[in-house]
Amino acid sequence: MQVAVLPGDGIGLEIVPQAVKVLKVLERPGLKFDFTEAPVGGTAIDLFGNPLPEETLAVVRASGAILFGAVGDPKFDHLPQDKKPGFALRKMRQEFGLFSNLRPVTLFDALKDASSLKPEIIAGLDLLIIRELNGDIYYGTPRGITIEDGERVGTNTMRYTESQIERIAHVAFQAARTRRGKVCSIDKSNVLETMGLWREVVTAVGKQYPDVALTHQLVDSAAMMLVRNPTQFDVMLTPNLFGDILSDQASMLTGSIGLLPSASMGEGKFGLYEPIHGSAPDLAGKNMANPIATILSAAMMLRHSFDLPAEADRVEAAVLKALTDGLRTGDIARKGDSVSGTREAGDIIVNALN
Ligand code: IPM
Ligand code: MG
Repeated sequence: MQVAVLPGDGIGLEIVPQAVKVLKVLERPGLKFDFTEAPVGGTAIDLFGNPLPEETLAVVRASGAILFGAVGDPKFDHLPQDKKPGFALRKMRQEFGLFSNLRPVTLFDALKDASSLKPEIIAGLDLLIIRELNGDIYYGTPRGITIEDGERVGTNTMRYTESQIERIAHVAFQAARTRRGKVCSIDKSNVLETMGLWREVVTAVGKQYPDVALTHQLVDSAAMMLVRNPTQFDVMLTPNLFGDILSDQASMLTGSIGLLPSASMGEGKFGLYEPIHGSAPDLAGKNMANPIATILSAAMMLRHSFDLPAEADRVEAAVLKALTDGLRTGDIARKGDSVSGTREAGDIIVNALN
């Protein structure tokens, strides 16, 4: 199994090695991982002057999956968008046609007191956010800053084609069939034409899935429902920008953004696996970050890219066991808990695997 390991910046450099450590424990006769590390984001700008250098793309092209950390470094804030660390992610999603971003939001029972919401509101929470990843304001043109009438004007364009909406809608309906059979599609069709088209196309695709219950929710009201009654949601289908925002919000229901994995997929098995959180420059280099989101992302990689569901289950069970036995990194610790560092948390999960 060829894995491109792209730790990126900040805490990415600390959490990704923990996931690699976990994957190595799974090796057995007939199952071997071949890890090739490559720079991305700010680290790549420092080395090559480019957030996604050709050298890194070559490593990725030779791999079956990408294990990704995080990108972003405030020292590059002054650069134009297509030179900043985050561009690497936007470019890679486009270059490899990764249009479908799966962000499962599940509550670990052991952490029900770590959430900022009351335990009775989040009990049983099991939500899958399916975020479109190749369209919307992230890629639409025109974009940029121009001068008009002597002042600067910033422009970005929300744009979706019917076929982009159709293919992500199919992903959501198919996922719902393996779950509780419900899709809630998010838009802002009361104000935006693009989002009116989104609602129309999702509704049309939904006709092919009469066994799945489809509802629509405006994004503002969905943000409210997510904290009022989050367990009503099964699959939440979102455009790119709204999914970015709602998935950070949803992560807090589980106690910490440091727990949430994601998979970015195209039509085939190739995928990019990353925690949904960022590079957290304030935590970087302190052995304080929670590696669980990255370790769970590696589990998604085993399941979706390498057809190793039993190994994926094993990793998830080990995380569950470690948390149940009391593993707490700083983000999920409460007063009086003993707090583990990043490396120690990785070791505890490795032990739970054995
Ligand atoms: C995410 C991140 C990225 C995004 C950034 C780093 C470009 O926030 O994956 O959620 O906005 O998509
Ligand atoms: Mg985000």
